[in-house]
Amino acid sequence: MGSPFFLTISLFLLSLLSKPTSISSKKHRVIEGPITNVTKSISFQNFHLRTNPRISHDVKLLGSAKFSNENGSIQIPDPSQTIDLKHQAGRAIYSSPIRLLDPLTHSPASFDTTFSFQITTTGGSDSGGSGLTFIIVPDEVTVGRPGPWLAMVNDACERNYKAIAIEFDTHKNPEFGDPNDNHVGINLGSIVSSTTVDASVVGVYLKDGSVHRAWITYDGAIKHLDIRLGSDGGDFPTKPIYSSYLDLSPYLKEYMFVGFSASTGNKTQIHNVLAWNFSSTSKAFLRLPSMETCESKLLTKPGSSKPPSGFLIFIAVVVLILAVLLNFYCYSNKSKDEKSTAMIIPEQNQQLRLPNKPRRFTISEISTVTRCFSEGELLSSDSRGLFYRGTLTNGCQVAVMRFSTQFINSAGLDRKRVVKEIGKISRVRHPNLVSLRGWCCDAREMILVYDYFQNGSLDRWLFGSGVLPWTRRFKVIKDIAESLSFLHSKKITHKNVRTSSVFLDITFRPLLGDFGLVFQHSDSRVETVTSQKADVFEFGILVLETVAGKRNSEEEEEGMGLLHFAWGMHEKGELMKVVDRRVGSVFNSEHAVRVVEIGLLCTVNDVGKNRRPSMEDVVGFLNDMDRPIPELPSSRPISLFPYNSATGLCGVSTCTSFGRSM
Ligand SMILES: *[C@@H]1O[C@H](CO)[C@@H](O)[C@H](O)[C@H]1NC(C)=O
Ligand SMILES: *[C@@H]1O[C@H](CO)[C@@H](O)[C@H](O)[C@H]1NC(C)=O
Ligand SMILES: *[C@@H]1O[C@H](CO)[C@@H](O)[C@H](O)[C@H]1NC(C)=O
Ligand SMILES: *[C@@H]1O[C@H](CO)[C@@H](O)[C@H](O)[C@H]1NC(C)=O
Repeated sequence: MGSPFFLTISLFLLSLLSKPTSISSKKHRVIEGPITNVTKSISFQNFHLRTNPRISHDVKLLGSAKFSNENGSIQIPDPSQTIDLKHQAGRAIYSSPIRLLDPLTHSPASFDTTFSFQITTTGGSDSGGSGLTFIIVPDEVTVGRPGPWLAMVNDACERNYKAIAIEFDTHKNPEFGDPNDNHVGINLGSIVSSTTVDASVVGVYLKDGSVHRAWITYDGAIKHLDIRLGSDGGDFPTKPIYSSYLDLSPYLKEYMFVGFSASTGNKTQIHNVLAWNFSSTSKAFLRLPSMETCESKLLTKPGSSKPPSGFLIFIAVVVLILAVLLNFYCYSNKSKDEKSTAMIIPEQNQQLRLPNKPRRFTISEISTVTRCFSEGELLSSDSRGLFYRGTLTNGCQVAVMRFSTQFINSAGLDRKRVVKEIGKISRVRHPNLVSLRGWCCDAREMILVYDYFQNGSLDRWLFGSGVLPWTRRFKVIKDIAESLSFLHSKKITHKNVRTSSVFLDITFRPLLGDFGLVFQHSDSRVETVTSQKADVFEFGILVLETVAGKRNSEEEEEGMGLLHFAWGMHEKGELMKVVDRRVGSVFNSEHAVRVVEIGLLCTVNDVGKNRRPSMEDVVGFLNDMDRPIPELPSSRPISLFPYNSATGLCGVSTCTSFGRSM
């Protein structure tokens, strides 16, 4: 028992030792260069696309937002859309990141921004909500929730998502501590403002329809924020509405994005940003690594080492020897067979003993983790059951899938087989596969516990209000192809490849989840090879949906689906039309067309001379953009079902009952 204690002490002493050495050698390793100012300035006199088409490259619109030529403004929400203006959220973000923090000194940048804005009514009794923010966010793809959330935060943003907003709020939300329906607030990583100020103090009524101007100045050196609000074209307000010391550094990353967000809720209005200036300055220290970086780490000159360290080394060595001796003593005292397992297991079990090895959970554990299956932890549901978020005792977040009794009964699940299958998939590990953390199977319950991903599933990003740029979409396609090919190489079929089975972690790395466990009726035993072909088909649909940002409609017979549309465009030689316009125009279009062709190739009927590729082939086509792909049939295949009618594996209706219609 004593040995870990001594070991800790000796390691602690050794770590003490290593510190002075690294400090003394610091001047060898790093030459602190001169301080430079990193500056950036942005200026938009208006947002007329006609006079300045570059605006659409410089400012990225997300969610419901548009450039209005009529007003020369950014409008959130997009008033030209035919759908209801209620509960809309949108952002307009400057497309390049801005340096707002020096990571070495952790000092925030100074910035200065001015913008003119107008809040116009949409008429009727619905007018009057919710508000506009000037926002500083970590990425240029996320949109927050509508309504009182002002498109600032969303569920995926709870942790690690750093955001700062200055809100111009026109709706009173008592639950968020709003004082009235005409206030300015400072939001630091949360929708609940840390400070609010009544705008009428400076004679401004945000939703009176007039054009206002805001001046926001932050001095990073003394950490002082100053906000002024007045009328556009009027005098510079001498009295700030807010002026105080405020340390923004905990909410900043080195590079962040700036722009605006706005939302509507039960009540609607149009938020116009008419002109915008922004400038920032941050200090950067040029660090030049020296030639001796490596040597100085390895060699410590005998003469330069300080006398006290000699004594510490002595103590540390003595303690270390004691620890080793104690350890040896403890082990040698144990029985013979215990000793031998202790010595053999570490070698033999190296591959089996994975970190976070999946384990069986008890129902009471699961209940604690999900706070008694609380509604607040409910993530989503589908035909198979409910998905909860849970928090393990070590603080790790997990996703908990609780199969419904109805599903278990209707699918005629054989628990023994399920547990066997769980055992099989729990051994499969790949950087792009969601890991199973555990399961809970008893007479009544069937629950699976997976890793939880902050950014949710891919479908939310493709068909929701977020917009993924081309590079991220391509990475999703490539990584998912690799993970699927890996599964196939292990003789496992996924059986449920779709955008809602792909999860995105905080860095947008895609992970394929939900695999191998779409249980089939025990009578429909299927050959592995054939069902792998069905996976390839589903992957093809995933590729098309990811590129097009549109869902493939289930009513394929009516010729309305994305798949039919894509084949139609292939016949006309206009595959570029399949690509989502929202990915922006700065990407290689040949590249995109090739990806669509690969997607279509995965959906050809596997008969005659047309062959669906294997996932291994697909990975090859995606990794080497010069590798020729087999020629696509010139016209669309007659039937476009995941499973060939010839093999009669799975009719569409059966698939739907397994949740394909979700
Ligand atoms: C950086 O900016 C500060 C003022 O913000 C100025 O005093 C300083 O001279 C500048 N340094 C350089 C190297 O330009
Ligand atoms: C913008 O357009 C709306 C109507 O489309 C109008 O009410 C508003 O006054 C315009 N704003 C400016 C600044 O021209
Ligand atoms: C932006 O800067 C320009 C040039 O300094 C100035 O004319 C314009 O009024 C500014 N606009 C805003 C909204 O601050
Ligand atoms: C939105 O409006 C509906 C019907 O008018 C009402 O029932 C509901 O409480 C309102 N919600 C909020 C948050 O005001």
